[in-house]
Amino acid sequence: MFRETIRTVAAERKSNIILALDLTSPVREGLLDLSLKLLGELNSLLCAVKINRHLLLPLGLYGGVDRVVDYAHRLGIPAIMDCKVNDIGETNRVIAENYFDAGFDALTASPLPGWEEGLEPVITLAKRKGRGVILLVYMSSRGAEEVYGRMTLDSAGGLRPQYELFAERAAEWDVDGVVVGATRPEKIAEIQRLLKGRVPIYAPGVGVQGGSAQNAVKSGADYLIVGRSILAAADPVRVAREIRDLAWAALADRGVSALGLP
Ligand code: XMP
Repeated sequence: MFRETIRTVAAERKSNIILALDLTSPVREGLLDLSLKLLGELNSLLCAVKINRHLLLPLGLYGGVDRVVDYAHRLGIPAIMDCKVNDIGETNRVIAENYFDAGFDALTASPLPGWEEGLEPVITLAKRKGRGVILLVYMSSRGAEEVYGRMTLDSAGGLRPQYELFAERAAEWDVDGVVVGATRPEKIAEIQRLLKGRVPIYAPGVGVQGGSAQNAVKSGADYLIVGRSILAAADPVRVAREIRDLAWAALADRGVSALGLP
């Protein structure tokens, strides 16, 4: 099970940092080698690697990004595809099947397709294969407030913020994680209270987007997703270690509620 795997790796390496391997280059040549090199240098400070279109588009899935996934596995860390699945059920199933066939341990999904003919085929497939689904609940971008923070009618006719309803769906659908931006520690705290530790919280947006690693973890984030702050540093290993140490100390302060434990 993905949820247990990432927690075990985090505990072993004393790291709740997921590297967003968002490398960009005007030339495709060298991207794969650079990805493998960085993963080799940084893996001991990570609990997982997350791949996005930055690598998928130039390298392709089979014979490209799957080699990064394979290398991550050989180094002992799981790989997450940040594809934000958001289509009709049958298309979502095909997307998920391909990423899982390429070796990915988990993928991200938007809650907008809903359950029936939406995410149900993806979540069912993931459970059958022991892979993970991580659901967007409140994105890190400034404009996310327009959608995730909007007041909306719940099924009983009451007005509730959209992110609360998404967090409730995440628990109901029994997904393996929710994404809440590190840029919104107060929302992380609210969502953690709502979820009562039933679903781990993944927080992107540390550093470049303005979020603080310590505040996010203190507020209830279980895992931090970090890209540019590490990748653009003059010494990525030193910066990754600094963020890892800060985040792990904050997580240790939280004690038993950390890493999605009830
Ligand atoms: P940086 O460079 O800002 O990269 O550390 C963050 C990584 O995480 C992704 N990201 C998000 N993914 N919901 C997501 O599912 C979010 O709210 C969110 N914010 C950032 C981003 O694409 C990059 O890979």
